[in-house]
Amino acid sequence: MSVNKEVKRVTTNTIQKMKEAGEKIAMLTAYDFSFARIIDSAGIDIILVGDSASNVMAGHETTLPITLDQMIYHASSVIKAAHRCLVVVDLPFGSYQSNSEIALASAIRIMKETGAHAVKLEGGEEVLESIKKIVSAGIPVMGHLGLTPQSIYKFGTYAVRAKEEAEAEKLKKDVQLLQEAGCFAIVLEKIPAILAKEVTESLHIPTIGIGAGKYCDGQVLVMHDMLGINTEFHPKFLRQYLNIFEQATEAVGHYIKDVKSNDFPNESEQY
Ligand code: KIV
Repeated sequence: MSVNKEVKRVTTNTIQKMKEAGEKIAMLTAYDFSFARIIDSAGIDIILVGDSASNVMAGHETTLPITLDQMIYHASSVIKAAHRCLVVVDLPFGSYQSNSEIALASAIRIMKETGAHAVKLEGGEEVLESIKKIVSAGIPVMGHLGLTPQSIYKFGTYAVRAKEEAEAEKLKKDVQLLQEAGCFAIVLEKIPAILAKEVTESLHIPTIGIGAGKYCDGQVLVMHDMLGINTEFHPKFLRQYLNIFEQATEAVGHYIKDVKSNDFPNESEQY
């Protein structure tokens, strides 16, 4: 019997036990009630209400513009449909970087106003005090290292991170600091698989990879990318399971044709 199947509600403890049992952790993003319902029903371990909502829901170029109020709106919709999975919510850009008091206040708003189970924030040593403060208030924190999209203007590119030794060494130090600060898991985004393997083996908490190879304890993808809703993003690491854009465009085209030809509604579709 898998660890996941034994529980009514996936918690941070379940996630830890899954790592210890060698059972892979599946995480996907969701931002609204209806898709969260599908994803939770399918048996996902974790839903991440990612700040990628800024891209896929609001159409912004980066994750920077989304606000704490907007994240709270998305998370409140998701939580109503998430009957079994753990729900983690991203702290958006600007809601935790200034100091640990502000970080805690933002995390408390998310927990109180959405009913979510944990928060995620980006960065290593720079955000350590904020992580400690949030964890000491009893709020589980997921870390996020490697490519951290909230720092895109510092990086200047979405290319693979930590290929050079100095950055890899900093990442190895940061994962240990995050673990010591009390993070229950760490997302590793777009780093070499061999580095993710070393890091994963060095930690007792789980790693969740996106573009970080097969040795992470779990994987995460953005729902819109893996379902083919977003058609303009084809990184090497992405596996697309559906082509909703194509299928939905075809269905809408069919509906338009039926309306224009007076085929819809027919006699049985009226009162
Ligand atoms: O916002 C997001 O979707 C994320 C994942 C890519 C990990 O942070």
